[in-house]
Amino acid sequence: MSHKVSRRGVLRGAGVLGGMVLVGCDPAPTVPSDAGSGDASTPQDAERPPTSRDAGPAPTGPFQHGVASGDPLPSAVILWTRVTLGADVSATVRWEVSGDATFASLVTSGEATTDASRDGTVKVDATGLEPATTYYYRFVLGAAVSPVGRTRTAPAEDAAVARMRLAVCACASGAHGYFHAYRDLAQRADLDLVVHLGDVIYEYATGEYGDVRAYDPPHEIITLEDYRRRYAWYRQDPDLREVHRQYPWVTVWDDHETADNAWRDGAGNHDPATEGAFAARKAAAQQAYDEWMPLRSVDPARIWRSLRFGRLAELVLLDTRIEGRSEQGVGDPATRTLLSADQEAFVLERLRATGSQWKLLGNQVMFAPLPQISNVDQWDGYPAQRSRVLEALRTGGPAGARVQDVVVLTGDIHTSWAMEVPSEGAGGAPAAVEFVAPGITSPGFPEGTLEAALRRTVMRDAPYVKFVDLVNRGFYVLDLTPERAEATFHRVMDVTLPYDATVESTQTWVSRAGTSRLERAEPTPAPTGAPALAP
Ligand SMILES: [Fe+2]
Repeated sequence: MSHKVSRRGVLRGAGVLGGMVLVGCDPAPTVPSDAGSGDASTPQDAERPPTSRDAGPAPTGPFQHGVASGDPLPSAVILWTRVTLGADVSATVRWEVSGDATFASLVTSGEATTDASRDGTVKVDATGLEPATTYYYRFVLGAAVSPVGRTRTAPAEDAAVARMRLAVCACASGAHGYFHAYRDLAQRADLDLVVHLGDVIYEYATGEYGDVRAYDPPHEIITLEDYRRRYAWYRQDPDLREVHRQYPWVTVWDDHETADNAWRDGAGNHDPATEGAFAARKAAAQQAYDEWMPLRSVDPARIWRSLRFGRLAELVLLDTRIEGRSEQGVGDPATRTLLSADQEAFVLERLRATGSQWKLLGNQVMFAPLPQISNVDQWDGYPAQRSRVLEALRTGGPAGARVQDVVVLTGDIHTSWAMEVPSEGAGGAPAAVEFVAPGITSPGFPEGTLEAALRRTVMRDAPYVKFVDLVNRGFYVLDLTPERAEATFHRVMDVTLPYDATVESTQTWVSRAGTSRLERAEPTPAPTGAPALAP
């Protein structure tokens, strides 16, 4: 389906997956909107039994949007909060980091000033920390104290790490329902990290894509003020706030942090005639992302970067969405790019680097070929650049050998997949494995004959696809040891009801080191002795 099809026209009546539009399937069932509230409570809340949704501190006063942390290094981590400034034009907050949640003694502390020019957000790079250590942090403004956050530094660069466990997620359309998946993550203490692969917000107007919850602002977001208000709406969700509070996040944006099916100079959901210059919208979106997300940035327009977790893993974060992306389906596929030249050089260099065993490519769009869905928004639409990455995997290892143990982490498409990525050319051995995370709330296909037929076709014609779930929302947990990479997919039972927060695991797929193959497995139990969640 051409990217030129307006997605607005089909959003309500078709299955819409990332960049893939399948016209003709039935709309997903929806429940009546609690229009106008803009927060997570609903009129029927009074009738329901208490749930985990009610737990956790509800910030008031200056720290209404909670706290967050991210981009852990062995000796540093980004700490974030936002001060609701009211009539004040600026505020200086004190930040404190402790080894325990009582803050009986401080490891480090300091002051940071914010003002309206950065929407009251505070971002601190707390340094001088110990590697592989859990810390608690908070912010203080006058008599007001923020909720306590919990974070964890990365292992030392040369450390032999026995095990690492992270959650991988994407695509949280607030209008489609409640973030039970985030709540489930926030309640488990066993993760080192949450990796969010984009669409952490959506740009649409209320009712335009999903109608369970109403947004603020109610209109489609275009200006800097709009984007800031939309982030603020999201961060008043108790489940999102809670998972930011309990874990460091590592994030990349996808299209909806700007506009649907974005590329370098435009977007499917951007009309310059009525919405102004795309460059201005992109700059506004990127400024708000930089203000509100806990990533360590030097330039709001550049999110590609790399984080290392000892000798066990390196997480290479890509921007396949904006920086270097040429327009979907336009021009010669041989010259279309998903990555800028600088970024491509960086990615190939990190793939060839030795020092960490598992190379995790945190990426927006599906990397493995999938002609069955004909989606020019993903790597299938940019085959020449994918070939160059595959070539680096084929010969970029020591002495010209294959690069081993590459795991592509993908979001965008609101469905779950486990795949052996085929190599190109002779040999036939898979080049990598790829795990695609479903949406937190963003819908895949309604359960039914269309998704069943597509699933059968894919499984028959693409034997390297080992697992696909086109229906359920959720996330996966990636558990790494030197011996294997194991992904356990989780699904949320119902995102439309605020009180049905059931989350359960579905399938586990494991790749043994040195194979780039997948096999079905039983999930390894969570590690014991995880540091206590923040109170
Ligand atoms: Fe999405």
